[in-house]
Order: sequence, then structure tokens, then C-alpha cells
Amino acid sequence: MSAQVSYAKEGAAAVLTIENPPVNALNVAIVTGLRDRLKEALDDASVKAIVVTGAGRAFIAGADISEFGKPRPKDAPTLDQVVELLEASPKPLVAAVNGIALGGGLEVALGCHYRVAAAGARVGLPEVTLGIIPGAAGTQRTPRLTGAAKALDLIVNSKQIGAAEAKKLGLVDEIAEGDVVKAAIAFAQGKQPRRVSEIQDKIAADRGHPEIFADYRRDMAKKFRGFEAPFAAVDAVEAAVNKPFEDGRKYERQLFERLVASQQAAAQRHVFFGEREVAKIPDVPKDTPIRKIERAGIVGCGLMGGGIAINFANGGIPVTVVETQQAALDKGLANIRKIFDGNVSAGRLTREAADQRVALIKGTTDYADLKDADLVVEAVFEDMAVKKQVFETLDRVCKPDAILATNTSTLDVDAIAAATRRPQQVIGMHFFSPANIMKLLENVRGKATSKETIATVMELSKKLGKTAVLVGVCDGFVGNRMLYAYRRQAEALLEEGALPQQIDKAIFDFGLPMGPFAMQDLAGLDIGLAIRRRLRETLPALLKLSYIPDRVAEQGRYGQKTGAGWYRYEPGSRTPIPDPAIDKLVVDYSKEQGIARRAIDDTEIVERCMFALVNEGAKILEEGIAARPVDIDIIWIYGYGFPRYRGGPMFWADQVGVKKVYDTIKRLYDKHGGWLEPAPLLERLARDGKGFYSR
Ligand SMILES: NC(=O)c1ccc[n+]([C@@H]2O[C@H](COP(=O)([O-])OP(=O)(O)OC[C@H]3O[C@@H](n4cnc5c(N)ncnc54)[C@H](O)[C@@H]3O)[C@@H](O)[C@H]2O)c1
Repeated sequence: MSAQVSYAKEGAAAVLTIENPPVNALNVAIVTGLRDRLKEALDDASVKAIVVTGAGRAFIAGADISEFGKPRPKDAPTLDQVVELLEASPKPLVAAVNGIALGGGLEVALGCHYRVAAAGARVGLPEVTLGIIPGAAGTQRTPRLTGAAKALDLIVNSKQIGAAEAKKLGLVDEIAEGDVVKAAIAFAQGKQPRRVSEIQDKIAADRGHPEIFADYRRDMAKKFRGFEAPFAAVDAVEAAVNKPFEDGRKYERQLFERLVASQQAAAQRHVFFGEREVAKIPDVPKDTPIRKIERAGIVGCGLMGGGIAINFANGGIPVTVVETQQAALDKGLANIRKIFDGNVSAGRLTREAADQRVALIKGTTDYADLKDADLVVEAVFEDMAVKKQVFETLDRVCKPDAILATNTSTLDVDAIAAATRRPQQVIGMHFFSPANIMKLLENVRGKATSKETIATVMELSKKLGKTAVLVGVCDGFVGNRMLYAYRRQAEALLEEGALPQQIDKAIFDFGLPMGPFAMQDLAGLDIGLAIRRRLRETLPALLKLSYIPDRVAEQGRYGQKTGAGWYRYEPGSRTPIPDPAIDKLVVDYSKEQGIARRAIDDTEIVERCMFALVNEGAKILEEGIAARPVDIDIIWIYGYGFPRYRGGPMFWADQVGVKKVYDTIKRLYDKHGGWLEPAPLLERLARDGKGFYSR
């Protein structure tokens, strides 16, 4: 069935039904059809009332995003024009909201004179998540029905609400008991048109209270730092309160048009599709058989193992956790209970649900208890000898078709797999800390990992509530390997003249949640110290690692957990305070190395760090460690807080221009050498005038 709006008569009512499976997304055909069928209904003198509804389970689940930014046929009306035509109807018009009504779908319903909703219907204006705002007067009509405060909450936070709440807010007039179309026809009986644009009482009450908006802007500032759309949404709702409808509508349209063409909206659309794209693995067909994971095991109940166990319990999968010592097991299980208790006291979980989940986690000191597990995740110490021994044991005790996963963050998954007789069933599942909170999961395919294992683990990841990206084996995989590349430049900048707080601020202002030094203080400098010592043993002479971080860590300054790292911390506080002792350490180091310190500005900091990140990403792509640039972008957005409105490092590089990235990296390499060697892929794209997404 192609997209269309059908027309039917039911007594004196005309029923216009939007049909565009699966979710009746708005596209040019639907919008044009709506206009034409409306005219038909208005021209038919026997029609006394008009009902608009959706075929199937949805009313209209928003616009077809793939049409965004594309040219439309000349004679096709825009959605906002059609919504105004609906409202102008001299015959009463009722939306029979049969299912989900999102974005443009809700705007169509708001253009109708009344809304009757099925009990299971859901409504919302999620445009802000896509970097835009509603563009068919959604920001103008919503506050006329709900008042400004409720409209702000709904629109700025892209909330979806159920029919009952929508009725409470005034967005819906009636909830239908039975057939929603019949209820809408009955509702229309004897009604006169009631145009939402003319409803005044709610916004009149908000008028003269600019503090509603000032307070809201202040409260949202942190959550939406750097994003344009949420603030534009507030501006638009404020205009609804203060301006006549027509002026407010035009203002909304201006904001909408500016945003729709913005880099942020392009980036956020990219992320929206990217989140779905990463689940599809180019060489693993959709019909690859998937094993059922009904019971799981975890080895090691430390920081990571405990968090991973919580994921399984949250996903409803019973899990057995192994530690070799009873004391370590007791400690690990107690930590798990503490996290669940915390969720209960924060109101995120009921006591009952928490207890059910805790009951899914069983502790043991006997590996033999893993014999029924369909999949085991290993999370023991980061030590190859220990891991190999654990995998040998797992291979022996687990059933032959069980999948064995490792949570290693730096070790070679192929070497671990070689300790078993089933390397095709060995895979990395690299969770990020805290594992029960961080959404990202890097699944690491080894040389021998089978497609079935990959497909099973990718599917399982969804069940665990994760956004999973498949990567290949290399030191640090995708995320941390790029992180080290970026950190090395931050450290080089320290040697050349910058201070940690200056670098952190420049990166924070770029949009990351924190700069590299504040992040190390959070993660712990001791881990980095161990990695650096190991790396130095095998590094080619040309590649150097600064000793500044070693010196900080060698003083016992491991970061927040020791009250001092790159910053100092007041007892019980997580606020980094710049420390003159660190400034001195940095300056002394430069002197010792014979480096004349120079003034370094924020642009240089951002370009040096971020372009190095992109350059490493290009190497990762070339080596096939990541299959596509989108995999890298999603890893950096979900694992490292790279700003969504920049679309991830590779998408951002395309927006900046790969040539600019290459030229800068080349210039830096010519000067500093070493790590900054341009990736051949970067060079080629720059030469050909291409981008990572237009290769
Ligand atoms: N900490 C992080 O941020 C992070 C992030 C991603 C991955 N990882 C990886 O996760 C793994 C675990 O790290 P962690 O931070 O949870 O360490 P941890 O020290 O907190 O926990 C390790 C646990 O494993 C137990 N253990 C050790 N040997 C064992 C064995 N043979 N059998 C059963 N249990 C054993 C220990 O008693 C300890 O409880 C490492 O491979 C690490 O690289 C850590």
C-alpha cells in the first residue's frame, strides 16, 4: 500500500484516514492527500463533521525524517499550511487519535478542533532530539491548551505522554472507551469549530510572567549546554504567550527553518540513524542464527563484574557470579545490593523490583556452577596470564556451545581465545565504567569469532539496554585507542605551554562533559601509569609518551579517589580545584626538557586534540578495526560524551572539512613528528575533496 489519505462517509461525517505503513509517517504524499481530502469533505454539502484518523496502530508517528532537507515538489503544500487549513475548516473537525501521535502527527491533531484519543494513544513533540523544533505551530498551540510550563516540559524534553496524562494537560478532550473513530464521530455531534489558536485563558494567565521563561532557561542550561534547539523551543513558547497567534507562528517557522538547515540538526539526524545503523553488521546477514541466552555467568565480581551482573538482572537474565574467595564474593554481592538499594531510595526502582533483580544474581566460588550458562563474561584482573587461566577453566566447565566473552580493555582477544578450544565462540564485550550506567558496549570480534557469536552478542546487548558497536582487535579497541591519541596531544600541549585547567576548559567549551585531565582524575591515574609503563617497553624510539602524568601519579596523586590528581579536591567534593603544585610541576618539566613555553590559545587546543582524535579514527577505519565512520561516532557519543550536536568526531570532521583537518595535522606533524603522522586515508580524502561519509 502506498502512502495515501483515504476518504469515507459514515452518516453525516467524513472520515479521512492516513495510511502509510508501518507508522503513518508524514511525507509529501500524505500532506498533499490531507489537503485534497479535506477539500472534498468541505465541498460535500452532506458532510456535517470531519474526523481525521490513522490506519493501523499509529495515528501519525512524526515526519519521515529521510525527507528532511530534500526539495519538495513545487505544488506540494507544507505541513504547516495544511494544519492551518484544517483549523480554518468551517465544519467541526475531530482528530481520532487511535495510536501514537508524534511531532507533525500531534500538530495535525492540534490543528483539529477537538481530540478524542484511544486509551493506549501516546503523544509528544520529539523534534528537539533531532535538533529542530516543531514547525507546524506545535509550539504555539500546545501552550494554548496546557499553559507555558507544561508545554515547555513537553517540548524541550521531547517527552512522550499517554492519553490519560494528555487529557489531564488539556491536549486531549476525551478518551474513547471503544472504537475511537465512532467516539470521535459521536463527539462531533452538535459541536461548533473550536480553534486552538483562538484559545486564550491559559496563555493570558502566563502573560506578564517573564520569570517562567527566565527560570526555565536557567534550570535547563546545564542539561542542554551547547544545543540550539531546546533554547529555540523556549523562545517559541514564549512567543506563543506574548504574541498574537499569527506572529508567533511565523516566528516559530523562522526558528524552524534556521534549525532545519543547521549543522546541529544534520548532526542529530545523523546520530538518530547512526544508533540504528551500528546494530547492522555489514558481513553478518540479518538471518544469521542467534543463540538464546537464558542463563549467564560472570567471572570476577569487582567494579566491572558487579556492574555487568546488574545489567543481566535488569534484562531479566539469571546470572551466576564467580569469585575464587568467599570474602571477595561477599564484598562484590554487597556492592551489587548497595547499587540496587540506591536505585530504590532514588525512586528509580520499587523495592519489589529491586528484590526480584537481586534474586536473579547468584554468587559462587565454584566454577562448575557455570555449567548451564549460555554465555559467560569474564571480568577478572587485567592480566593475560590470569585471563588465559580463567578461559582454560571456562572452556573445560562450560557447555560446548556456550559463548565466552572477555571484558578486557587492553588485552589481545585473539590470544585469550587461543587458550580455549572454541575460539569461534570467544568475543570481547567491553563494558564501560560504571557498567550498570554507561550505555556503550564495544563488542570485539577476534580473528576466529563466528558470525553466529557476533549476532548473538549484538542481540543480547540490546536486551541489556546497551548501544553496542562491533569493533576489531587492537590496543585500546576504538574508543580508548582514540582517547589515548587525544590525550597525548593534551600532554604535549602541557609541555609546550598550556596548563591542565586551560586545556580542560577549552575541551569542555567544545562540548565534552570534561577535559582529559579532569577525566583522568575521575578514572584514576594509577591505571594510566601501568599502561604507560607497559607501552614504553615496546614503543619505537620516534614515539614518546610525556612523563608529566607519571610524575603526577608517582606522588600518589591518583585523582579523585586520593583527593588529588591533576587537581586537588576538598574532602567529599568532586569539584576540581586547580593546584599551583601541578602548575609548578608542569612548568618545571618544560624547563627541564629545554622547551621554551609559549602562549597557546583555545582554538589551537581544540584543533590539536580533536584533529588528532579524527586522525586516529581514520587509521582505525583504514585498518578495518571499525567498519564504518558511524561506528566511531556512536562510540564517542555514548562512551565519551562527544557532543551529540556535533554528530561524533568523524561526522564533525566532515563538517569542518577533512582538508582542514589534514592540513593542520600535516603541519603539526612536520613540526613535532611522532604520533601525529597523518593517516593515509585522511590524506587521500583531503586530496580528493571528499569526507568520511562521502568516500
Ligand atoms: N575499571 C574500568 O574502568 C574498566 C573498564 C572496562 C573494562 N575493564 C576491565 O574489566 C576487568 C575487571 O576490571 P575491574 O575494574 O572490575 O577490576 P577489579 O579489580 O575491581 O575486579 C576484578 C575482580 O576479579 C576477581 N578475580 C580475580 N581473579 C579471579 C579468578 N581467577 N576467578 C574469579 N575471580 C577473580 C577479583 O577478586 C576481583 O573482585 C579488567 O579486565 C579491566 O581491564 C575495566
